[in-house]
Amino acid sequence: MSLVMFLPCIILAHISFLNVLQAIDLNSSITAGSNSTWKSPSGDFQFGFYPLPNGLFLPGIWFAKIPLKTLVWYKSPSVEPNSLLQLTSEGHLVITNPNGTISQTIDNIGGGSDAANFAQMQDDGNFVLKDSNLRTLWESFNSPANTMVPGQTLKSNQILYSKGKGASNYSMGSFMLEMQGDGNLILKANQFSDPSYWYTSTLVSNLNLVFNESSSLLYLANGNENIIYSITKSTPTPVKDYYHRATIDENGNFQQYVYHKRNGTKWERVWRAIDDPCRVDFVCGIYGLCTSPDNESVNCDCIRGYIPFDQEDVSKGCHRETVINYCSGPNMMNFKLEVFDDTDFQFYPDFALINDVDLEGCKKSVMDDCNIIAATYNSSTSTCAKKRMPLLNARNSSSSKGQKALLKVAYSNNEFNTFGISKKKSFNVRVFLKVMVAISATLACFFGALAAYYHPYAKRLTRKKKFLNATDIGINFREFTFDELHEATDGFNVSRILGKGSSGKVYRGTLIIDDAEIGIAVKKLEKKIEKSENEFMTELKIIGLTHHKNLVKLLGFCMENNHRILVYELMPNGALSSLLFGQKGEKPQWIQRVEMALGIAKGLLYLHEECETQIIHCDIKPQNVLLDANHVAKIADFGLSKLLNKDQTRTNTNFRGTIGYIAPEWLRNSPITAKVDVFSFGVMLLEIICCRRHVESYQSHDEDERGSEDDDLVLVNLVLRCMVSKKLEIVVSDDLEVLNDFKRFEQMALVGLWCLHPNPTLRPSMKKVTQMLEGTVEVGVPPLLNDEIMANYNF
Ligand SMILES: *[C@@H]1O[C@H](CO)[C@@H](O)[C@H](O)[C@H]1NC(C)=O
Ligand SMILES: *[C@@H]1O[C@H](CO)[C@@H](O)[C@H](O)[C@H]1NC(C)=O
Ligand SMILES: *[C@@H]1O[C@H](CO)[C@@H](O)[C@H](O)[C@H]1NC(C)=O
Ligand SMILES: *[C@@H]1O[C@H](CO)[C@@H](O)[C@H](O)[C@H]1NC(C)=O
Ligand SMILES: *[C@@H]1O[C@H](CO)[C@@H](O)[C@H](O)[C@H]1NC(C)=O
Ligand SMILES: *[C@@H]1O[C@H](CO)[C@@H](O)[C@H](O)[C@H]1NC(C)=O
Ligand SMILES: *[C@@H]1O[C@H](CO)[C@@H](O)[C@H](O)[C@H]1NC(C)=O
Ligand SMILES: *[C@@H]1O[C@H](CO)[C@@H](O)[C@H](O)[C@H]1NC(C)=O
Ligand SMILES: *[C@@H]1O[C@H](CO)[C@@H](O)[C@H](O)[C@H]1NC(C)=O
Repeated sequence: MSLVMFLPCIILAHISFLNVLQAIDLNSSITAGSNSTWKSPSGDFQFGFYPLPNGLFLPGIWFAKIPLKTLVWYKSPSVEPNSLLQLTSEGHLVITNPNGTISQTIDNIGGGSDAANFAQMQDDGNFVLKDSNLRTLWESFNSPANTMVPGQTLKSNQILYSKGKGASNYSMGSFMLEMQGDGNLILKANQFSDPSYWYTSTLVSNLNLVFNESSSLLYLANGNENIIYSITKSTPTPVKDYYHRATIDENGNFQQYVYHKRNGTKWERVWRAIDDPCRVDFVCGIYGLCTSPDNESVNCDCIRGYIPFDQEDVSKGCHRETVINYCSGPNMMNFKLEVFDDTDFQFYPDFALINDVDLEGCKKSVMDDCNIIAATYNSSTSTCAKKRMPLLNARNSSSSKGQKALLKVAYSNNEFNTFGISKKKSFNVRVFLKVMVAISATLACFFGALAAYYHPYAKRLTRKKKFLNATDIGINFREFTFDELHEATDGFNVSRILGKGSSGKVYRGTLIIDDAEIGIAVKKLEKKIEKSENEFMTELKIIGLTHHKNLVKLLGFCMENNHRILVYELMPNGALSSLLFGQKGEKPQWIQRVEMALGIAKGLLYLHEECETQIIHCDIKPQNVLLDANHVAKIADFGLSKLLNKDQTRTNTNFRGTIGYIAPEWLRNSPITAKVDVFSFGVMLLEIICCRRHVESYQSHDEDERGSEDDDLVLVNLVLRCMVSKKLEIVVSDDLEVLNDFKRFEQMALVGLWCLHPNPTLRPSMKKVTQMLEGTVEVGVPPLLNDEIMANYNF
């Protein structure tokens, strides 16, 4: 009886107790976009959805009574309107999507513990989940974001992360404050394994960073709450008249602020870790230069000769327009050494330190060392510090006064004044390739129009017919009569057309020689031929002299009247392009593709280095690789560019090649070398190993898939991106043959990237390419990949 009376009393007492604490019951929720929040009893703090400028909402806790609703805690990512913050009936704190699915659980209460019974937004800014015995199961103080408030402790191994840059970006930023297990409190960039740019050197185990609730001072204390190291020395009094917080900001500084509760108008700083904002490591990224004229702001520029990765946010770092090798090639001596006063390239360790030297000596030492591009000179100590690449932490700010920075600056030079797109937003390989495709499309139209403008002259050429060698058509090169070829192709019958190139149509023909039927391909050149008859013959002989397993054999020619006709052996299996990009499921076997790639490389090597006169193909693409009866890949149309044009070295009107495969030097005013073929080969190599077109047409992707990553449409970008993120398997998708031989696939992809360097001098020769494909020479990391990794490192 008494027990029955007693129980309701306990329950009543409990309920009223919870009411005093303003407990948040299970099954409570808050909707993003409504103004409802969970308030602390004093009203100083609120927990709810913090509206962001981009229209999304961030689950967080903020100072509620001041006009600037400053966040002290948040949980990224931000969410859509009408998402819910819920304390579920099971006792978990979760975020629910508008459609009712749970997007994330905020607490980390395991299944083993008691379930949370209620939650509380406390007056100190801590949000806690407690069980029925009032034990704390989870608290926001223990999962800090970028801020601490009085009463909060950063325990051993806990970290504050800066937020991302920009008012709406609360994802993890570039800097962190870490209470290390060894007792050292450090600020460091979370990239480049930065050793730290600020530290307390307190090597005592089990230290905590304490933000004392009564004094509002920051200090390091040991387990017995003894102060080991004071961080803030004083704060305005009376302490209780102010709000306090300590935050690691977007630019990596850790600062303590106060805000007067009644008549404050802004957060006033009472302490900061770094007095020169440019002394934060990597604050302007690689090759960035930090200036801070007021000791407060951070302004990022690129050091001379470099351009930003992202024009909108220079602090992501910079890069050279082209890789410059001062140790060889045309740039070897092509630079001046500039001296920047009051500037420092601070990053350690130095490459080499020279003592007891004057500025001139320092300059000379840098000039004479082609591996070095920069140094700093400290006149008070007469030391010259030669710097490693990449250059980090360059600054011209209060702490670099008196220091001199030395930098090699290349003379601007057409050859290395890249692509004319240096002013474009965010140079990277993707943009470069897109722009290149666009430019080449425009140029192709232009030259197409130009070609149409010049009508082919019907120059009368009379010439005595003469067989150069009529005996064995299979091996020897001969002259055909027009009638002979007319007959062989049914009078150049339309039904006999095998293909149509820029230079003319190709017909399938049959010759009867000694009762044997021989298949031939007859190419009728339709373009205007600039060469005189003699020059044309000379070129033809060069082509006719080529003998290689991976080249389509030229059997002969016909030069009657205005006809210019070439006769080749017939390739029954058509072009590589139709095999690679044909119907789904019919792609050639992996091992076949490997052999083809190597074969083509050998064919090109022969053209470049092994035949009597070097032949640059100028139009390498899968359409120009044909397959014989045994599926051996053979390069077609080699020598044509030279045959049809006056001059192999390009003049302004001699633009050749095919969009997507052309090397960038075609678009620059630079000499054309065999390296243009290496570039095209690189594109084609990736196509062969991936069985994908270099540029996929938009139509083949549906609307949703296209989305943000239309970069995937360009194969090189896809390969690069997957390599950087170490997920190259994505490119292969479900091709088991390739997955079983993945190492080889990877090596071949790397060779492709080597070939695709924008700077021709950095592309390997076909000899090197062949050796890499055969595995007799190590492949190594292509500079293109290296640059891409560097670019991604800093984002
Ligand atoms: C939670 O609230 C919903 C409606 O808001 C209600 O239908 C449900 O029964 C409640 N669950 C518990 C365990 O109280
Ligand atoms: C929230 O409050 C603001 C200002 O107090 C008001 O303009 C707005 O309409 C409110 N929104 C909702 C959904 O109640
Ligand atoms: C619910 O919405 C989220 C994001 O708003 C989405 O990712 C998820 O697929 C949706 N779930 C269902 C079942 O519609
Ligand atoms: C947000 O900031 C992070 C870190 O600085 C950055 O990586 C990310 O790209 C930013 N996101 C947006 C949308 O700007
Ligand atoms: C805060 O400092 C006061 C003295 O200023 C001290 O008595 C108290 O123990 C400190 N609090 C903590 C949590 O260390
Ligand atoms: C706030 O106002 C009080 C008087 O009401 C004044 O004594 C105090 O100095 C002011 N504090 C600040 C930070 O302006
Ligand atoms: C910046 O700080 C330096 C050193 O602390 C000081 O000498 C200089 O006057 C400051 N500059 C400004 C604009 O406050
Ligand atoms: C460094 O900064 C100062 C002040 O902003 C400026 O006058 C000076 O020209 C700068 N020096 C260099 C080398 O950029
Ligand atoms: C030059 O070196 C001395 C000694 O290491 C150092 O104190 C000083 O700050 C340096 N000067 C500059 C401008 O960095």
